Amino acid sequence: MPGTSVIGLQWGDEAKGKIVDLLTLEHDIVVRYQGGANAGHTVVVGDQTYKLSLLPSGVLTPGVTCVIAGGVVFNPAKAIEELDELKRRGVEDYDNLKLSDRMHVIFPWHFAEDRAMDQSTSDGENIGTTQRGIGPCYRDKVGRAFAIRLGDLYRPNFRERVEHVTRAKNVAIAAMVPANEFTPLNAADIYEQYRDYAARLKPYVDDTTDYLLTAAEQGKRILFEGAQGALLDVDHGTYPYVTSSNSSGVGVSNGSGLPAKYINRVIGVVKAYSTRVGGGPFPTEQNNDIGQRIRDQGNEYGTVTRRPRRCGWLDAVAIRYTSRLSGVDSICVMLLDVLSGLDELQICTAYEIDGKRTNRFPSQVDDLRRAKPVYETLPGWSENLTKVRELDDLPANARAYLDRISEIVGTPIDMVSVGPARDQTIRVGKKLLAGVR
Ligand code: IMP
Repeated sequence: MPGTSVIGLQWGDEAKGKIVDLLTLEHDIVVRYQGGANAGHTVVVGDQTYKLSLLPSGVLTPGVTCVIAGGVVFNPAKAIEELDELKRRGVEDYDNLKLSDRMHVIFPWHFAEDRAMDQSTSDGENIGTTQRGIGPCYRDKVGRAFAIRLGDLYRPNFRERVEHVTRAKNVAIAAMVPANEFTPLNAADIYEQYRDYAARLKPYVDDTTDYLLTAAEQGKRILFEGAQGALLDVDHGTYPYVTSSNSSGVGVSNGSGLPAKYINRVIGVVKAYSTRVGGGPFPTEQNNDIGQRIRDQGNEYGTVTRRPRRCGWLDAVAIRYTSRLSGVDSICVMLLDVLSGLDELQICTAYEIDGKRTNRFPSQVDDLRRAKPVYETLPGWSENLTKVRELDDLPANARAYLDRISEIVGTPIDMVSVGPARDQTIRVGKKLLAGVR
C-alpha cells in the first residue's frame, strides 16, 4: 500500500501545501491528522489562490477523498467557512470529505483560554500562539474531564454537557483574566450554535480510523498532510515554544490511527532559508536588512494570523535533526527563487555552545538560546529563477547551494520550487510522481 507523508522540517510555513497538492494527483485519499485551524496552507491552481487552514489541500483535486482524522482539534465554524468558500468559488460541491467522530472540538472557552495563557512560559517569553484555541483544546483532550469530541455533538446529553463544561470554564477563565476583561460564556448560545454546526456537518462525520485501516488494507494510496513543522513538535521540538501536537514525522500514526507499516515514503519539506512565527530561539535569525529582504521577497507574513515571520539563513543543524527524526527519504526545497540577488548565502552547519562546537540539535531551549551558528558561505546568484523548470537550467551557484543542502542533510532532493504555481516546479527525482520506493 503506497502511503506517503509530507512533513515540514522547520518551524512551519515550508509551503507544504504546494507539495501536497502536487502529490495528491497520485493518491486516492489525503489525510490531515494533527493540529487544527492554526495551519495555514496556500495552494495556487491556475490563476486562483486558495488559503485553507483546516481542510486538507486535497479538497482542490476532484475525486480524492479528504479525511480529517482523530488527532486534529476541530473548529467546526472554520470547516463550514472553508467549505462555503470553496463552493462559492466553484470547487466541486465537496462530498468526499470525512471527519473523524473522535476529533476533539474547539469551543469558545478554548479561545478565551488561549488568550489568557499564552504569556507564561517558564522563562517569561510568550509562545505567541495563533490564538486558535489549539493548546487549550489538546489540554482538555488529555485532561478528559472537560473534553467534547465531535461524536459527542450527536449524543442526547450534548446540551447538559455544554452547560456543565461552560460552568466550569467560566470559573477557570474568571480566575485567569482581570475582572474588567471577563465576559461570562453563555451555555445556551453555545449549545445552539454548535447544534447547528453539528447538523450541517453530519453527512461528513464518520469513524475515520476504521475507514483508513480498511482503505490501507485494500491497497488504497494514502497521502498524509503534516501541519506546522517538526521543530514545533510538542515532544521533540523547541519546547515550550512549540505547538501542542506531534508535528514531526513521528505523529502520523497516532494522529491518523494507521500503523507506521502503512507509511512507506516520507518527504521532508524545507524552505531554502528559515522562518519562524511566534516566540522561541532561532539561532540563524537575521534581524537586519537580509531578514527584511527575505521577508519582502518571500512575502513572509502568516497565512492564518498575517504576523510578519522572523527570517534567517538556512539552519542545516536543525533540518538534519528533523529529517532524521521524521525518517525522511527525500526533501523538497521550496522558495529557492526568493534568494536571487543576494551576493552570498550562509548555511549554518554547526553550533557553538559555550565555546564547544556541535552539530547536535540541543534538547534544551536554554542551550539553543546560547547556540552561535557556525556558517559556511556560498556565492549567490542574480538570475530570476521563476521560469526555470529543469535542474540543468539553474545557475551553477544555485545548484551548488542545493547540492550542499542535500549533502549536509544526507537526503536526496526530489523537487525544487521556484514559485507558488503548480508548474513552477523542478522535478529532480523524476520518479517522484511515479510511485513509491
Ligand atoms: P499554536 O499552535 O497556536 O498553539 O501556536 C504555538 C506556536 O506554533 C506559535 O509559535 C505559533 O506561531 C506556531 N505555529 C502554529 N501553527 C503554525 C503554522 O502553521 N505555521 C507556523 N507556525 C505555527
